[in-house]
Amino acid sequence: MSQKDYYDENAQVFFDSTVDVDMAPLYQRVLPLLPTGASILDAGCGSGRDAVYFKRHGYSVTAFDASESLCVLASAHLGQDVHCMRFDEIEWQGAFHAVWACASLLHVPYGELPVTFERLFAALKPGGVLYCSFKYGSGEREFGGRTFTDLDESGLERALSLTGVAFELETWVTEDQRPGREESWLNALIRLK
Ligand SMILES: C[S@@+](CC[C@H](N)C(=O)[O-])C[C@H]1O[C@@H](n2cnc3c(N)ncnc32)[C@H](O)[C@@H]1O
Repeated sequence: MSQKDYYDENAQVFFDSTVDVDMAPLYQRVLPLLPTGASILDAGCGSGRDAVYFKRHGYSVTAFDASESLCVLASAHLGQDVHCMRFDEIEWQGAFHAVWACASLLHVPYGELPVTFERLFAALKPGGVLYCSFKYGSGEREFGGRTFTDLDESGLERALSLTGVAFELETWVTEDQRPGREESWLNALIRLK
């Protein structure tokens, strides 16, 4: 089963289990860095939970996801069209103050992360910021029908160093907000210089 098939087949269950998760502590790390009404790209938006929050708080939101079924659910939740596309199809240039990639780049194979980051950086305005998160660890693994690239600080720094882009990096580790999940997450805030 491909990644996309997993999310298409489990879209409603995934939507229901993630749409109400409280991500406020993460918003508080990122949103204060942005101008009022900033444009945010929610990359791999899933349920659209975060895009909805940003829109409600006055930000201009663009959202996309690779799963058609999740795009349908997220579009209804967000009240605007969610683009159905993959990271490797991104062509925006200098369009956004921020890219929000919460728990989505973790499905990109490690070797494809540098070029994926480059595409996302190109979508940012000068001085823009990119937030992303990965399950904490190292290496690629398959679990429950999906493939994951786990990252720690050095794995992330290595992938970013291959982009040829100048940036400032801040990382921090959090615990999963969903009941019963004992997982740690590597969070990263990357600001273009
Ligand atoms: C673990 S979910 C996270 C969803 C959401 N950002 C959240 O925090 O709840 C991963 C999401 O990334 C999407 N995704 C996976 N690979 C993708 C790709 N190559 N391009 C775009 N979206 C992708 C999946 O369809 C899924 O919605």
